[in-house]
Amino acid sequence: MGVLFDAEKRGGGGDSAVRDWLRRLKDVAHDIDDLLDELRSLRRELDAVAAGRDRLRLNPGVYPPAHPSAPPRRETISMVDESKTVGRTPDKEKLMRLVLDAASDEVVSVIPIVGFGGLGKTTLAQLVFNDRRAND
Ligand SMILES: Nc1ncnc2c1ncn2[C@@H]1O[C@H](COP(=O)(O)OP(=O)(O)OP(=O)(O)O)[C@@H](O)[C@H]1O
Ligand SMILES: [Mg+2]
Repeated sequence: MGVLFDAEKRGGGGDSAVRDWLRRLKDVAHDIDDLLDELRSLRRELDAVAAGRDRLRLNPGVYPPAHPSAPPRRETISMVDESKTVGRTPDKEKLMRLVLDAASDEVVSVIPIVGFGGLGKTTLAQLVFNDRRAND
């Protein structure tokens, strides 16, 4: 505020360099004002566009179709040929214990089986699912 007062006084007193400085300051202030007006009107425009999205009921859950050459998704069923699976008995027994320990009427337990694709996660879960001890 002191700076402006000093500049007004000296510009009014005929200091042309100070008058130039004041003019540049006003120009910049006007540009900022214009920019803010533009931002405010863009905001309104954006709100109008957003309202259009609701009015048109555009569905955010729609995705483009899978690529035509993409392999079909494998479906998982509980059936597994136990005689063809090898080397999973210790893992299966560990899981059986977790499942049977967790069994309770009130609590729903989730036991994650993690590993890279094709490792045998689903097969292992199927072995446990099909064990009669899990279904007693
Ligand atoms: N212990 C095993 N002995 C023999 N074959 C197995 C064994 N475990 C899995 N396989 C075979 O390996 C293939 C992949 O197994 P599975 O589908 O269980 O893997 P996954 O980890 O679930 O794969 P993804 O991550 O893709 O779901 C299947 O053909 C399955 O029959
Ligand atoms: Mg799987």
